[in-house]
Amino acid sequence: MAQPAVNKDMEYRRLGATGLRVSVLSFGSWVTFDTQLDDQLAIDCMAAAGEAGCNFFDNAEAYAGGESEAIMGRSLQDLGWPRWSYVLTTKVFFGIHGGVPNMGMTLNRKYLLQAIEGSLERLQTDFVDVLYCHRSDPNTPMEEVVWAMSDIVSSGKATYWGTSEWSAAEIRAAMAIAERHHLHKPVTEQSQYNLLERLRVEEEYADLVADTGYGNTIWSPLASGLLTGKYRDGVPDDSRFALEGYEWLAKRLNDPSGVERVERLRPIADRLDCTMAQLALAWCTTNPAVSTVITGASKVEQVVSNFETLAVIPKLDDAVKAEMEAALAD
Ligand SMILES: NC(=O)c1ccc[n+]([C@@H]2O[C@H](COP(=O)([O-])OP(=O)(O)OC[C@H]3O[C@@H](n4cnc5c(N)ncnc54)[C@H](OP(=O)(O)O)[C@@H]3O)[C@@H](O)[C@H]2O)c1
Repeated sequence: MAQPAVNKDMEYRRLGATGLRVSVLSFGSWVTFDTQLDDQLAIDCMAAAGEAGCNFFDNAEAYAGGESEAIMGRSLQDLGWPRWSYVLTTKVFFGIHGGVPNMGMTLNRKYLLQAIEGSLERLQTDFVDVLYCHRSDPNTPMEEVVWAMSDIVSSGKATYWGTSEWSAAEIRAAMAIAERHHLHKPVTEQSQYNLLERLRVEEEYADLVADTGYGNTIWSPLASGLLTGKYRDGVPDDSRFALEGYEWLAKRLNDPSGVERVERLRPIADRLDCTMAQLALAWCTTNPAVSTVITGASKVEQVVSNFETLAVIPKLDDAVKAEMEAALAD
């Protein structure tokens, strides 16, 4: 495949108020790259996503201590896609240099200007399309963060910049500083959003989105796999919740009511002739404030099946959505 396919069934939404078009289903590498997927499997997954019309690939400096970016960089070289044919994003904040002062858990100017260099080197590219601040930093003045991120955009090393899990008030503060100084404003959030986690996106950001058109490229649309229904009978050996180091995620299963609630969606998926994963992914796309739903996968078959969600989206009319809401209500 010379480049990601332009799929007639794929919706390419505007990234918030920008003119950038991103596939409504996209692909990210958290947990999977390096831990579950070696170079060849990463290439195969990215190729499968690209074949389905995915043009947005997400990463972060901190994923697998930088190795996730390195794998994606090598995969993109192997795939040989022209740089203009896809949107590449990454995130900085947590750092990869242990406890070295200024090199992690910060958004200070020194860190940001150095972190982007490392990410570009690992990704083997001159620029990313969106550089996110992976979290907010209460210990760096907002003005310093906005100037540094805007300078990175001005330098051409990022096309846009965004935020991840910032409060609405922090995003507004950043936008106001950018406006005051004629700097590049942040254009999009990257927030957790799925059938079980809705408050921030639907309530906290509602006014912000109405006022500014701020975008959202949402993460963990399957609640790390919980919404696939595969944890009904315990934890499969090859699943994320069985991975060493992710016990904190698996703790979700300590509350059996989560699994039980998710099971209430199964009859709806069966009736619509789709998987529970497809139902959950399709639901995320029905929120117009969502620019793209970043999917994750540890197997090529999951990528293929998840992108087949495109055929399920039209089935989620208001009646089906109301039925889903009712099923999940406590
Ligand atoms: N900004 C942030 O703070 C942040 C945080 C987290 C993620 N993200 C981004 O969002 C992306 C997606 O997040 P996520 O990986 O947590 O998404 P997710 O869709 O909630 O979970 C993906 C995982 O669910 C399982 N899965 C996926 N499709 C499946 C299917 N059809 N059947 C059965 N199991 C399936 C796989 O895990 P197993 O097969 O291993 O069980 C897969 O790795 C990340 O890659 C990253 O780019 C951002």
